[in-house]
Amino acid sequence: MNKLSQNEQKLLVAKTAVDTLYERGLIFSGMKIGLGTGSTAMPAVKRLAELIDEGKLKDIKAVATSFQTTLTCEELKIPVFSLSSSEIGGKLDLAIDGADEISAENHLIKGGGAAHLKEKLVEYNAAKLVIIADESKVVEDLGTVFPLPVEVIPEARLSVIQDLELLGAKCKIREGVKKAGPVVTDSGNLIIDCLWDKVDGKSPVNPMLLEDEINKITGVVENGFFTKKLPLVFIGKSDGTVEER
Ligand code: A5P
Repeated sequence: MNKLSQNEQKLLVAKTAVDTLYERGLIFSGMKIGLGTGSTAMPAVKRLAELIDEGKLKDIKAVATSFQTTLTCEELKIPVFSLSSSEIGGKLDLAIDGADEISAENHLIKGGGAAHLKEKLVEYNAAKLVIIADESKVVEDLGTVFPLPVEVIPEARLSVIQDLELLGAKCKIREGVKKAGPVVTDSGNLIIDCLWDKVDGKSPVNPMLLEDEINKITGVVENGFFTKKLPLVFIGKSDGTVEER
């Protein structure tokens, strides 16, 4: 059998995860659901819309984690609410999203699409978090290959970079593509991408400690380590299978 491409793995895992969650009663009519951002989350949003169109799901209330997701929901006619709206009331039944790196402990780096602030807000306030990813996202340890995104208020960019360097990070302000100058997030902030050098062939990063340490720096809005809510993870593989862990 031909190996599935990365994009095919994303499509496979998105559909399989949504169908599995529906069959298990974790996606259900009347639920409040957080919807992630990126090229794996979007096919999951589309599968959810298909279940709605097929009449299998009714009265779904979604909270989007980015402008991208809001636009997709509008296109697919999935009703979107603010997390703090009276319809949602600040808490969700479940959230589903992609990831940039997944460690052996199911700790994550997210924010490759600069959406990790709202993703964390939505996903830490969901009773259950489901992560869907292609197999390239599975790594031994975090922080040395895919950069950790740190969202900062623009005025604080240089002071924050100096404090991140004290934590051992090499920092770069994220530049826009087809846009001159830096990426400006959905909340009007900048992204500093951070990488650590391996020490003795291993990552020096402790994501559980650094998630808190980085957020203590004045001017940091949120970083892309996700260690405080352990997700159920679905991995789409090149051999056409989906692993759950
Ligand atoms: C968005 O900011 C991210 O956290 C995405 O969830 C992450 O970058 C995964 O993206 P892909 O599914 O496009 O690889």
